Amino acid sequence: MITMAKQTESVLKLERVSKLYDGATPFLALDEVSLEIMKGELVSIIGPSGSGKSTLLHMLGCLDRPTGGEIFVGGKEISKMGDDEIADVRRDTIGFVFQSFNLASTLSVFKNVELPLMISNMPKAERQKVVARNLQLVGLTDKAGNLPSQLSGGQKQRVAIARALANSPKILLADEPTGNLDSRSSKEIIDNMVRLCREEGITVIIVTHDPNIAERTDRMVRIMDGKIESDTDESKRSRKGTVSMLYGKADEGAGKKEARRREK
Ligand SMILES: Nc1ncnc2c1ncn2[C@@H]1O[C@H](COP(=O)(O)OP(=O)(O)O)[C@@H](O)[C@H]1O
Ligand SMILES: [Mg+2]
Repeated sequence: MITMAKQTESVLKLERVSKLYDGATPFLALDEVSLEIMKGELVSIIGPSGSGKSTLLHMLGCLDRPTGGEIFVGGKEISKMGDDEIADVRRDTIGFVFQSFNLASTLSVFKNVELPLMISNMPKAERQKVVARNLQLVGLTDKAGNLPSQLSGGQKQRVAIARALANSPKILLADEPTGNLDSRSSKEIIDNMVRLCREEGITVIIVTHDPNIAERTDRMVRIMDGKIESDTDESKRSRKGTVSMLYGKADEGAGKKEARRREK
């Protein structure tokens, strides 16, 4: 019997995740956010400045611990893990791209992409292959010997993407990756991320201000004051979050029925 492989593998899941920044004036940056991302999705997170996008991405990327709720990476809940174990999960699963490219200015493109592989003690011969492949994936094979200063903004960001692919991550998280780029370079970056998703099967999540970028993704999650205001793929909102949002906590029964109906 032949069965079609269905993309129903959950790669990241937040269950009522909150983040309270403590300090002189404590600030609740995320307020019980529930969100599930499936393997191979191409998702944008949008919302005004200060709405909690970066905080949400930090939670998804296990860069910071939540002050409430649970985070699952590939089905494993991370809150009971120690910092080292979380760092291992992060290194093996997730690649990060930021607005500022953070390239080492004195190292060539090749060396920049090689650096994380050296840190993880990959043998030299293997490193060379992986660097060559990752540069090819971002279309920069011919710039391997250049210094970052000899590249356009879009090319610099593509080096950062190649570097983020070091450990063959299943998930690529990008925080305003086109924030410092003109529209042509921005297109270059989103084209690349779409290709990594479609052709390499990488799950891609992009925080962006730019409607042209968000439009290119399959799913838009809008955040406002630390809460998810809308999600174009409502069926993939975590059950609990969806239920309490749509019906209030008192009527979860009706909510579950509705959620089952949506699944059909
Ligand atoms: N380390 C921090 N300490 C205190 N408040 C913070 C910290 N980081 C972010 N915030 C606050 O949390 C809110 C959300 O921030 P952020 O997630 O960076 O928003 P966005 O990325 O959507 O602009 C903002 O009001 C911001 O000032
Ligand atoms: Mg931000």
